[in-house]
Amino acid sequence: MTYISSTVCTPTVTDVPRHIAIIMDGNGRWAQRRRLPRVAGHTKGLDAVRTIVEACAARGVEFLTLFAFSSENWRRPVDEVSFLMRLFISALEREIARLHTNGIRLRVVGDLSMFEPRIQELVRRAQAKTAANTGLTLTIAANYGGRWDILQATRKIAQQCVDAGAMQNVDEASFAQHLAMAYAPEPDLFIRTGGEQRVSNFLLWQLAYTEFYFTDVFWPDFNDAQLSKAIASYRERERRFGRTSAQLTRQSQNVDSLSC
Ligand code: FPP
Repeated sequence: MTYISSTVCTPTVTDVPRHIAIIMDGNGRWAQRRRLPRVAGHTKGLDAVRTIVEACAARGVEFLTLFAFSSENWRRPVDEVSFLMRLFISALEREIARLHTNGIRLRVVGDLSMFEPRIQELVRRAQAKTAANTGLTLTIAANYGGRWDILQATRKIAQQCVDAGAMQNVDEASFAQHLAMAYAPEPDLFIRTGGEQRVSNFLLWQLAYTEFYFTDVFWPDFNDAQLSKAIASYRERERRFGRTSAQLTRQSQNVDSLSC
């Protein structure tokens, strides 16, 4: 891992990723391999969520973002969707006290208007209860899609233009302020379990310079040791952000002061 000392506009690279984003894939196959119904994999997947939240908090990861339900997951069999909704409700009801005790701040991003009012209310209460916590920020992406996020940001900017009666100055930084996760830095490390190697409409804007790690391990089997492997792989990467290797070496020795 190349350590980049403070610069004006290159994100600081640290040995522990500040922000890890995960697509938790493979629940269904984990269950089917054991001749269990697919939903048993989701229940076991929630245990893995607990393990990884604790493991990230213990390592000093600042932001953990989990893709729990994509905007495309509504296409699944009705029984599976309603099971996932019940699991979400029970997680919100049962886990919040523990998250709060551990200083974890919970955020939920996505188009929540599609969820039943009870879920919306539980999300609102959980976010309010944990809002002032200063430990790990755990974001659950629910009915989230990267294209939805870019579109909703674009609509907000268009509305600002209408309100002002003039075109507004928009650059990458001001655009990103309208994204659902404007409160977090872009992910340093993206992990996808379950063997597939695609982004599946996750954080499309924010993953531009993220390091990717794919593993065949199914999500219910993803544990502390697996997380260590992912972070070890991340540490071996050289994050150049468009620059050359030589520039980064000189910069880390404070020989050069690079401008944007
Ligand atoms: C993908 O595996 C997993 C999901 C669509 C749901 C993820 C849900 C959990 C991990 C449990 C609940 C979590 C929270 C935060 C409440 P898949 O079903 O697509 O697996 P497959 O590819 O093997 O079919």
